[in-house]
Formats: sequence, structure tokens, C-alpha cells
Amino acid sequence: MLIKKRPSWAMAEADATSEHIYLNRREWLRAAGFAGLGLTTALTGVGGFAAAAVAAIEGYPAPRNMAYRLDRDITPEDDATTYTNFYEFGSSKNIWKRAQKLVTDPWMVTIDGLVETEIQLDAEDLIAKAGGLEERLYRHRCVEAWAMAVPWSGVPLANLVKLAKPKPEAKYLQMETFLDPSIAPGQKQSWYPWPYVEGLTLAEATNELAFLATGIYGKPMPAQNGAPIRLVTPWKYGFKSVKSITRFTFTDKQPVSFWEQLNGNEYGFWANVNPDVPHPRWSQKTERLLGSNKNVRTQIYNGYGEQVAGLYDGMFPNDGRKLFH
Ligand code: MTE
Repeated sequence: MLIKKRPSWAMAEADATSEHIYLNRREWLRAAGFAGLGLTTALTGVGGFAAAAVAAIEGYPAPRNMAYRLDRDITPEDDATTYTNFYEFGSSKNIWKRAQKLVTDPWMVTIDGLVETEIQLDAEDLIAKAGGLEERLYRHRCVEAWAMAVPWSGVPLANLVKLAKPKPEAKYLQMETFLDPSIAPGQKQSWYPWPYVEGLTLAEATNELAFLATGIYGKPMPAQNGAPIRLVTPWKYGFKSVKSITRFTFTDKQPVSFWEQLNGNEYGFWANVNPDVPHPRWSQKTERLLGSNKNVRTQIYNGYGEQVAGLYDGMFPNDGRKLFH
């Protein structure tokens, strides 16, 4: 995955240690009797770590949308929130403490490019305008062959697209993470093409499964999982699910994503899950479930073919592999 160093995605799993989950700011405020006071500054929280300020998005726990069910157990919360990929804070899985430096309230989001009117609004406002929170249970499959199944809270990405009013020429949606090397040490590593960028076609972005998540396990998103707003596209490898988004840009050009810029042969634009197309350096036949460490077979489109296979009809008839790297 990396260019200069051995990729952490090829690291022994034993290098990643499990740690206690941190108390998020809102819980801490509630416990300390401050909930509702609207404090927005970063606070020094439990254990001497700076507890990240969490965007004041309301509505947790959100009502569960029963259309999205799982065929496996929900991953234990501790595993999903302490074993994370967030290269801005380092290339190991064990960055959750470091990520608490991310201050997500206030969090301004820009919607620009080929839209009727460019807008800037706070994350809280964006979610309110996009319809309020619901909860969905989704599987998540990382290209490194580990997987989890978690309850995300958020809004359909299609609601943001509607709100943005893209012009007819817009064909793609590019999403970008914050850029602030003073809090994110990984962004001082100049061989990475920061900021982290990902993209979808507008057809993908408006598919019912594409989700903008603001929370997990019925609570606001912890910093390390991509607070305050991240993408979730469960039929694609996890690297598509860009965290801590600050900009949504509508464009007529296919975005070149972060990992694609680094190594396009291994991490392409489409990144749809397919067990029959191996990564150039490892098999994608099975996945290891976080928590139980059981290995299970990987499914095409991560099991979401019914909802998404039609998006790709007739594309690349002679080289369908392009859809799956
Ligand atoms: N987004 C940003 N900004 N930076 C990252 O390093 N890693 C991606 C994706 N989004 C990443 C990111 C990868 S490789 C995966 S598998 C998922 O986030 C992991 O999400 P999780 O840590 O919440 O499980």
C-alpha cells in the first residue's frame, strides 16, 4: 500500500493491540453533568488524553432502518473502535489515542464544483438539512482481508446530492478529508498525496446503500472512526469510505483517489469487493472477522449485489477486473 515503507496493510495482525475504548466527549460531559451547555472547545478527558470535541449532531441513538440486516454478529464495539485505519494519524491500526487531537466541533463542510450554488455549512446543519439520523447495520470489508459488521448512524448520501443540486454536467462526487499536519502527524509524511481523497460516480453516490455516517454503536462517531462525517459504501473495499470529510466537490472528471495516486495497479477507482479477483499481493477469497478472528468466505459486492450490481452493467466487458481492484 505504501511507497516508501513496508505497508501496514501487509503487517502481521499481531502488531495491532486491542485497547480500552475511550469515553467520548458527550458521554464525558453527561457524566460530568455538563451535557446541554453547548461547550465546543477541546477538553482534557479521561486518562490525561485530550478528548476530541464532537460535533453537536443530535439524534442518538437513531431509529434503526430494518431494511438493512446482517447475516453475522455485530462486531464488539471495542474491536471496531480500537483497530482502525486512519493514516493521517499513523500507519498502524493502533492510532485511536492519537486521533483524539481531532477537534470536530465546529466542523465546516464545503459543497462546491458543478452545483447550482456553492455552500459552506456546519456538519450539524448539513445533517439536519439532509433529513436527520437513521441507523443501519452494514458489513465492512477492508482490502486487507479483515471485516467487521457495525451499526452506523447517519443519512443517505443521496440526500446530500439532492441538497447540493448538481448541474447536469456533474458525473462524479469527490470527497476530501481535512488537512492539518499540526494535529495529524501522518500528514507530515510528504510521500503521501494529502489530503485523502475519494470519489464515486453520481449513480453510486445516489445508490440507496451509500451512507454518510456520523455515529457508530448508537453514539457520535469517535475521532478514530472518522468523526464527524465519513462515507460508508459497504459493497466496496473499505479504503473508499473516506473519513472526516470537509469537502464534497461535484465534477465531470473521474477523481483520482489517494491510494490510486500512490499505486493505481493495486487500488483503483472502482474497488468493488470480489473474492475472485485477487489483490496483486494476496487472495481476496476470505476475510477475518474482527472480534472472533473467524475466517469466512468473501462475497461478491460484499453481499450487496442485489442493490448495486446493476450500476456496472456493460462496463469494461473485456476487462471486468478493473471494477474490483
Ligand atoms: N479515510 C481517511 N481519511 N484516512 C484513512 O487512512 N482509511 C480507509 C478508510 N477511510 C482511511 C480513510 C481504510 S483503508 C479503511 S479499511 C476504512 O477507512 C477503515 O475504517 P475504520 O477504521 O472505521 O474501520
